[in-house]
Amino acid sequence: MTSSPNLLSNFSAQFDGRLHDYLQTTSDVPAELLEAVRYSVLAPGKRIRPYLVVRCCELVGGSRDNAWPVAAAVECVHAFSLVHDDLPAMDDDDVRRGRPTTHKQFGEAMAILAGDALVVLAFELLASHVRDRHLAGEMVLELAQRTGWAGMIGGQAADIAGQSQDPSLERTRYIHERKTAALFEAACRLGAMVGRGDADGVAALGRFGRCLGRAFQIADDLLDVTSTAEKLGKKAGKDVTAGKQTYPGCVGVEQSRRAAGKACDDAIAELHRFGTNANDLRELARYVVSRSF
Ligand code: IPE
Ligand code: IPE
Ligand code: MG
Ligand code: MG
Ligand code: MG
Repeated sequence: MTSSPNLLSNFSAQFDGRLHDYLQTTSDVPAELLEAVRYSVLAPGKRIRPYLVVRCCELVGGSRDNAWPVAAAVECVHAFSLVHDDLPAMDDDDVRRGRPTTHKQFGEAMAILAGDALVVLAFELLASHVRDRHLAGEMVLELAQRTGWAGMIGGQAADIAGQSQDPSLERTRYIHERKTAALFEAACRLGAMVGRGDADGVAALGRFGRCLGRAFQIADDLLDVTSTAEKLGKKAGKDVTAGKQTYPGCVGVEQSRRAAGKACDDAIAELHRFGTNANDLRELARYVVSRSF
């Protein structure tokens, strides 16, 4: 095990404080909706995507202060994806981040609405905190395209359709690119964009994020087979039962480990231009494929 969990837990301590602040509102929001939204996004996640936003911003010379609302926006999209992913009509899960899923705690209607509110809040955060209007527009477009029907949401649709299709590596890759890698790519590109990185820097960090997202989802598929609910904070062994398209389901555990390692190497190769300043991202990439939870 590398020290990356430390790296992430130190970061989370800072990030969660900011996130908490962004979830304060002076508007008249129905109390139960507000509670369900906060419950979902403030639950103890690993915070990998916001970490990517903040560090990619700093890597291109930007300030951490400008990155916080962007990091919060990406985590809101991610939390929305988890709340809906767990619904009975989708993966039908009862536990997430070591706690009852949002629909178990608040009912299905409130979970659907909390997810809706989170994804809209993400765009509100970008639109209200990125001062340069032109840049804000570009960032909204970036997050919309990676989240929407050709991105994460499209991947979730393909994942559900895949449950009634024969296992296929091509299908699995298609699903992983969209449901997971697209948002990792967005996190890195948005960080570099808000940090005012040049086009080459934004593109390289975007490719890093995409490769890391591939590695991450292969690892998630592997952990579903090899880890436990206690470690994961969510049910294990659920993909086979649900008939999901997964890497181990298509090529077995050993070849999946090799594929995750290859995606991790591809990710690290994109960091070359950033020298030793990117050492923490290299460490994070290695952690993603070596983690046991
Ligand atoms: C879970 O993501 C969903 C996938 C894309 C596999 P994470 O494992 O990053 O979830 P949290 O944020 O730590 O709960
Ligand atoms: C989830 O994939 C991807 C998104 C939520 C977009 P999974 O369905 O494999 O995630 P877990 O295993 O429930 O966290
Ligand atoms: Mg799913
Ligand atoms: Mg799921
Ligand atoms: Mg999974």
